[in-house]
Amino acid sequence: MGGERIEGEIRLEGAKNAVLPILAASILPEGDVLIRDCPDIQDVHAMAGILQKLGCETQWQDGSMLIHNGKIHNWEMPDALSKQIRSSIFMLGPILGKMHRATVPYPGGCEIGIRPIDLHLKGLRALGVKIVDDGGMLYCDGREMHAGDVYLDYPSVGATENVMMAASLLPGITTIHNAAREPEIEDLQRFINAMGGKIQGAGTQLIEIEGVESMHGVEYAPISDRIVAGTLMCAAAVTGGHVRLKNVCPWDLVPVSAKLQEMGCKIHDMGADLILQGPEHLHACSPLQTQPHPGFPTDMQAQMLAISCVARGTTVIVENVFENRFAQTADLTRMGAHIHVNGRMAVVQGVDHLHGMQVGARDLRGGAAMVLAGLIAQGETIVENIGFIDRGYAHFEKMLSALGAKIERISLRGG
Ligand code: UD1
Repeated sequence: MGGERIEGEIRLEGAKNAVLPILAASILPEGDVLIRDCPDIQDVHAMAGILQKLGCETQWQDGSMLIHNGKIHNWEMPDALSKQIRSSIFMLGPILGKMHRATVPYPGGCEIGIRPIDLHLKGLRALGVKIVDDGGMLYCDGREMHAGDVYLDYPSVGATENVMMAASLLPGITTIHNAAREPEIEDLQRFINAMGGKIQGAGTQLIEIEGVESMHGVEYAPISDRIVAGTLMCAAAVTGGHVRLKNVCPWDLVPVSAKLQEMGCKIHDMGADLILQGPEHLHACSPLQTQPHPGFPTDMQAQMLAISCVARGTTVIVENVFENRFAQTADLTRMGAHIHVNGRMAVVQGVDHLHGMQVGARDLRGGAAMVLAGLIAQGETIVENIGFIDRGYAHFEKMLSALGAKIERISLRGG
């Protein structure tokens, strides 16, 4: 791969980070849930596996997933599956909300940082859940759960969502202070309300959940994936290409669009579509700092780092959200990039070109960043460990080759 312009149009599917909590919340109602535009990614398959172990039936139907939750009986989360995806921790809130008991394995560390769950537990304890941590298992007793006030010391996305789901069937009003404001949290509110829940305030720092007695099944289309959209924008930007992304929310992409405009891209907001025209040469943007929404998303940092490698000038990137998100710099440097990392800061001095070689994905977004590097590198780039990319991008290579990239999935050593 390398050297082709990314051009054409593509329709975005449901967002991984919207669908995962929505799948978790699909155990709450009495009645089936149908998720439209459900992305065919590994994390969704793993979450469906967890739902099955709890007693749900799940079924793919033409890009949608049907969840039949009528026979849910188990409040113990399977150990091996739960460790596969960190988002299994999202099940804690809904299992407690539905069955008032939950046993979950303590999630291990992960590629991009330690990722503690103290805020999730603090939030649930504020609702009266008794939690015992014994030998790596969390035994949660929610038989005396009640509505309450939850203050999050940091606006954690997962902790906000867990408390929303735990409280939606609890009598009374629960308030989350310093809630995360990501668009996916607004989408979870829309989903729960579509099932008859009563939540307001998502998208602001104060969320109010009025518990309802029961909820009903629903058919729902989650918001599209702003990180997949942002990654494709980077692909077009760095190859001097031209893309039309359909079914996106340009408003949610503003933090990314603003930086790409600084780098020389022309971006047109067409309502539910977004058009990006990449320049002949990218220019370095002003310092980029990851922040909780509406700041620059940490999930787009690695991709911006990759394209900054060939932007004229010096780019400074500061990662404030996760402590270990510069893992790809070693491989990018081997490809010819000039990057200096000091703790949470990376300084990139743009070079004229990168050269292709065999590299590896170290995490989901870092893997996508290496594919972007391959798109601009001279010669052939082989990205190993693409299982990381499959966690969050459905058939990434097909998506990119439909837009003109020379890219294919290969099996190394017959694996
Ligand atoms: C979600 C997203 C992930 C994104 C992240 C930040 C999903 C499935 N994943 O992850 O793609 O990168 O938001 O936008 O939606 N923290 C604590 N204690 C906690 C919880 C979090 O200290 O109990 C810290 C984390 O270590 C991290 C920061 O808070 O440094 C942000 O984490 P959080 O917002 O919780 O991210 P996730 O929900 O795990």
